[in-house]
Amino acid sequence: MIKKRTPFYPYQPFLLRILHGLTGLCLIAAILTAYWTYDTYDGRWGRIPLPSYPDIEGIHGTFGLWTLLIFPAFVIYAFQRGQRRLVQSDTLSQLTSVGKPIWWYSLNRITNTLALLGLTFALFSGKMMGET
Ligand code: HEM
Repeated sequence: MIKKRTPFYPYQPFLLRILHGLTGLCLIAAILTAYWTYDTYDGRWGRIPLPSYPDIEGIHGTFGLWTLLIFPAFVIYAFQRGQRRLVQSDTLSQLTSVGKPIWWYSLNRITNTLALLGLTFALFSGKMMGET
């Protein structure tokens, strides 16, 4: 039997990969520095032994702002070429096919959509934070 070669399609188109990667990197930096800001200035739910570093708030603001600047481009791209990876009109009904491939796709679509929504709230509430 002759095995048919399948053509290679990259998992993500190049621009999406770049925007996805940059958003992810800036966001991870924002989350880590956000925790350090909390640890330095607040700590009401407990602390881990990080050095107290007052400048961390400004560093967090910088990473937060970078994320905010890249995010709109990523969102436009996600809503256009990445549309199939977001929630579809039949996604909820497909959640009944537990364990089948479409179930995993649906979970992935819901996760992607919630991540975009969550980050939108985090960025806009962050933008409203005052230094003081
Ligand atoms: C996913 C998590 C977070 C994201 C994406 C995020 C994003 C942002 C953004 C976009 C800004 C505005 C930066 C600017 O306009 O210059 C900001 C500022 C700020 N954020 Fe966050 N933030 C997050 C979590 C947190 C947490 C958990 C804290 C709690 C300590 C926090 C504390 C602050 C403070 C105090 C500022 C004001 C910084 C300044 O103006 O110097 N953030 N954040």
